[in-house]
Order: sequence, then structure tokens, then C-alpha cells
Amino acid sequence: MTSAPPVHGVALVGCGGFGTFVLDAVRDLPGLRVAACADADRGRAEKLAARFGAPAHGGLDEVCALPDVDVVLLATPPAAHADASVTALRAGKHVFCEKPMALTAADARRVAAEAARAPGVYLVDHVLRYNPVLRLLRRLMDEQLLDPVRRFAFENDAADEDLHPGHWFWDPAHSGGIHIEHGVHFFDAANALLGSAPTTVQGTDVRREDGAVSGGGTVSGGGVVDIVVATAVHPGGAVATHTHSFTHAHRAERQLMRLDHGFAEARVTGWIPVHATVTAWTDDEGAARWERLPSRAQELLAVPGLRPHGGESVTVRVARDAGSAAPARGRGVSRTVPHRVDCVIDLGGEAAKQQVYAESVRAALTDLLHCATHGGTPAAGAESGLLAVAVAEAATRAGHTGTTVALTDVLPAAEDLSPAAEGESR
Ligand SMILES: NC(=O)c1ccc[n+]([C@@H]2O[C@H](COP(=O)([O-])OP(=O)(O)OC[C@H]3O[C@@H](n4cnc5c(N)ncnc54)[C@H](O)[C@@H]3O)[C@@H](O)[C@H]2O)c1
Repeated sequence: MTSAPPVHGVALVGCGGFGTFVLDAVRDLPGLRVAACADADRGRAEKLAARFGAPAHGGLDEVCALPDVDVVLLATPPAAHADASVTALRAGKHVFCEKPMALTAADARRVAAEAARAPGVYLVDHVLRYNPVLRLLRRLMDEQLLDPVRRFAFENDAADEDLHPGHWFWDPAHSGGIHIEHGVHFFDAANALLGSAPTTVQGTDVRREDGAVSGGGTVSGGGVVDIVVATAVHPGGAVATHTHSFTHAHRAERQLMRLDHGFAEARVTGWIPVHATVTAWTDDEGAARWERLPSRAQELLAVPGLRPHGGESVTVRVARDAGSAAPARGRGVSRTVPHRVDCVIDLGGEAAKQQVYAESVRAALTDLLHCATHGGTPAAGAESGLLAVAVAEAATRAGHTGTTVALTDVLPAAEDLSPAAEGESR
């Protein structure tokens, strides 16, 4: 007979748009009970608490004093994350913190130090670490079907339609700026996919101008930085470029993550990845291995706590002898790879985005609860969270100053942190 899982009481602090999404995503997790909802805006807390039959509170301190709260979900704007995480960890709670972990690497380090001391488990909600498409690509690299990433490029044409000029997103004091607030997801994803944090980062900021635009309408919120670009060089010479442009209507949003694996290329679409194509040149043995992938789709896409909807697929087509049998060379590497592979990984396209998004959040909390019950470190733990914030801070500084910023300027070299190690733990 298996014993019932322990019941964990969770309290949400920050009952805004994303906090509500998180609570809805995790509400039916076995062994979870919504024990409290808190917000500086008491009315908001009361409204959400009523939906879950939980008590409403005004803030973190009240929640930390509740004995039936085991896990604190922090979904306030970013500036509050570091202090709140430290307070909750010191109160003996597990912490599920929305990204970013902190506005600066120094603050993230404070949280990481507390997480290392405290009995509670700490996790940053870096949802991409729980995304099935990225897990599959990481697994293919681990199995050496794909070579390591040598170029990572993320292009994000993001929406600003709901980001009115007074929104905290535009105020670096509250959000940290675009690289910290949003770019951190992709710095973390790059660290996980490349298996290293970058050594140096260059940046460019572009400011919005106020006024009328051709074709009608006006651009408002003049002066804010709404386009940022960062170029990060990783050990071994792999390069990652990150471009975020918060300048689009929702319907015109688009994202592309392009991974150059040398003899193969992956193109991942959706900021929550829902679809990818991989083209690869390979030999006889590789072709046979690629052809076996569809039968392994379930295993390759599996993420504990994430419930597939059943329509996910991996398809592979191999064009044998599509290229010459003579050795092909790139960067001094010579291979006999006459066969061309076209692989499509599909979670259901854009239509599946909300489901994949919610399930990734559910998988992240599953990871935290698993570690709380059985021990271990979550895939999106404090160490990788700290590194992601450090890269984001370096990119922000580089964009402001137009200089190249070394990661060691932000994060002293004494830190011996490995971003891949956490990500591979589960
Ligand atoms: N992981 C993801 O994919 C993802 C996606 C969107 C947003 N987020 C993150 O979620 C967080 C919240 O974003 P949002 O869009 O829901 O913001 P929001 O403005 O909609 O909600 C924030 C809420 O926090 C409350 N609040 C502010 N300071 C507080 C404090 N000190 N104590 C208690 N309550 C406080 C506000 O009253 C508000 O209700 C941000 O950190 C954001 O970056 C993460």
C-alpha cells in the first residue's frame, strides 16, 4: 500500500495577473492546499481568496506567521522578490519565486546564501526549464545525437499592448529593466542549453520616441527603453544573442529561438516553446537513431508534473544520400554525413501555448514539492537563478554604458556555479 502524499499548504503573495495564473495552474496538484492569498491591495487578495475558500491577508509577514503555510508563492513585482524570499526562507517556508530572482546579482546571491542555509526548498519560476521541447533538445545533446550549441539566437517581437506607460514594467526601479524582468528567462535557457554561463556580455539599448507615427496613431511613453540586444560569449566560443522588442500588438507577437549545432540547426517557435524543427546531416547510424525518435516521443518530451494533452508529436523524415558521400567540413571538423534529417517536434503549435505554459508552472511546483518531500535540488534552483540574474545585470550594464561587461564584474569568480548541473537533476 502506498501512503498518501503529504499535504502542503501554499500561500500566494501578489494576487495580480500572473499570481492568479499560477494558482489556477497548480490548484489540482495532489497534496496541495491553498492556505492563504495575500496582496498589498487587500481587495484583490479577498477576491482571489474567496475563489479558493482561503483566508485573505495583507502581506508576506502575516503569511509567514501562519503554521499551516508550508510554501510561499511570490508573485509580486520583481523589486520585492529578494527580500521576500529571504524573509520566507528564514520563516522556514519553501519558496516558489516568480522570476526574476532579484534585480541584481548581489541580491540574488543573498537569496542563494539563505537558500543554502535554510531548511526550505527554493525555486525560481523559470518555466523554460520545464518545457518539453527544450527538454527534448537537451536530451538529444546528452545522447550526442545533436552536437553542443555553438550559436544561440533569440528574437523576441513581444507585445506592449497591455503595458501602459505607467506600468511597473517600464520602471527599472521596480522591474530591473527588460533584461532582468523578461530576458532572464532566455539567459537561463541559454545557460541550460549551452551548459555554461557566458564570460562577457555586450549590449545595446534603444529608447522609444514620443509622437505621431506614419500610418496614424501615436507612440506614447517616450524615453523608455523598449528594445534591447545582448551578445554573450560563452566559454569555448559559443555565442548567444538575445533581442527583445516590446513594440508589438498581441496578434503580431512572434518569437524564434535558433540553435546552431554545427551539422544541425534547431528552430524553436513561441516564447513558450510549442513547436520546433530540426534539420541535421548525419551518417547511417545517426539516421537510424533519428528514425527511432518518434517511437520515443513520450519519453523524450516527459517532464514530471506536466500533463501532456495527447496531441504532441515527433516526426522524422530522413532523405538518404541527399548529399555527397565525400567528407563535409565545418570549423575544421570533417564528417561523412550524406543523409539529411528533418525532424518536427510539435506540442500543438500556438493553440497549445496556454496549456503548455500552465503545465510548465505545474511541473515547476511539482519539482519543488518533490524536493521538499524527498530532498534534492530543483531544476530551477537558486544557483541557476543567480547566474541568470548575473547575465541579465551584465547585459543591462553593457546596454547602458556601451561597454563589454565581464560576468566576473557582476559575479566574482569565487562562485563555482554550474547552470547545467541543476537543470539535469530531474
Ligand atoms: N514566469 C513567468 O512566465 C511570468 C510571466 C508573467 C509575469 N511573471 C512575474 O510575475 C510577477 C508578477 O507579475 P504580474 O504581471 O502578475 O504583476 P501584477 O502587477 O499584475 O501583480 C502584482 C501584484 O502584487 C501586489 N503587490 C505589489 N507589491 C506587493 C507586496 N510588497 N506585497 C504584497 N503584494 C504586493 C500588487 O498589488 C499586485 O496585485 C512579476 O515578477 C513578473 O515578472 C512571470
